[in-house]
Amino acid sequence: MKFFVDTADIADIKELAATGMVDGVTTNPSLIAKSGREFKDVIAEICDIVPGDVSAEVVATDFDGMVSEGKKLMAIASNVVVKLPLTWDGLKATRALSDEGGKVNVTLCFSTNQALLAAKAGATYISPFVGRLDDINIDGMELIAEIRAMYDNYDALKTEILVASIRSANHVRQSAIIGADVATLPPNVLKSLAVHPLTDKGLSAFLADAEKAGIKV
Ligand code: G3P
Repeated sequence: MKFFVDTADIADIKELAATGMVDGVTTNPSLIAKSGREFKDVIAEICDIVPGDVSAEVVATDFDGMVSEGKKLMAIASNVVVKLPLTWDGLKATRALSDEGGKVNVTLCFSTNQALLAAKAGATYISPFVGRLDDINIDGMELIAEIRAMYDNYDALKTEILVASIRSANHVRQSAIIGADVATLPPNVLKSLAVHPLTDKGLSAFLADAEKAGIKV
């Protein structure tokens, strides 16, 4: 499963890219706003740091505006993926941009039927928001399992499942077991994946015994 980082914070992206575990980045207008930086500048810098796919979201809501903005975003760097919302105009723009060879991440997906439409529109990625479904007591991981099962029924559906709105390490574990293609992780969740108290306890004990025995390498 590919790991993308869900942030526009350059320091976090640099720190996590250095681990060799980061395959791409996703942003959205809220994350760009939080960065406090000029949209195109921060996307260009992210694309320089991470060679993998970097999602940048349009703010237009009409077909013509989405296609126009999408082309401007793709012109920033070769690894820009255009993020489009799951609306009829977004789906039409997905078809138009993908027919021209552009990569599209269809976002704000909350149902299996929406994911089917995105795949039929030629989306490169579909972003189901599991955390926001959990927030309203709907099991977000059930949606991921349904989309996986549905896509696996049809060879023609090539869209990759990009699990988004991830809130915990459990979401990552469940996504990998289901067979999602990508998980986009907030920096704190990615950092938490390696942490276990028994690992820390065991390492401390090993090092204490090594020091007592005067072990040198
Ligand atoms: O960036 C898309 C998605 O990951 C947003 O997640 O935490 O705002 O629901 P969140």
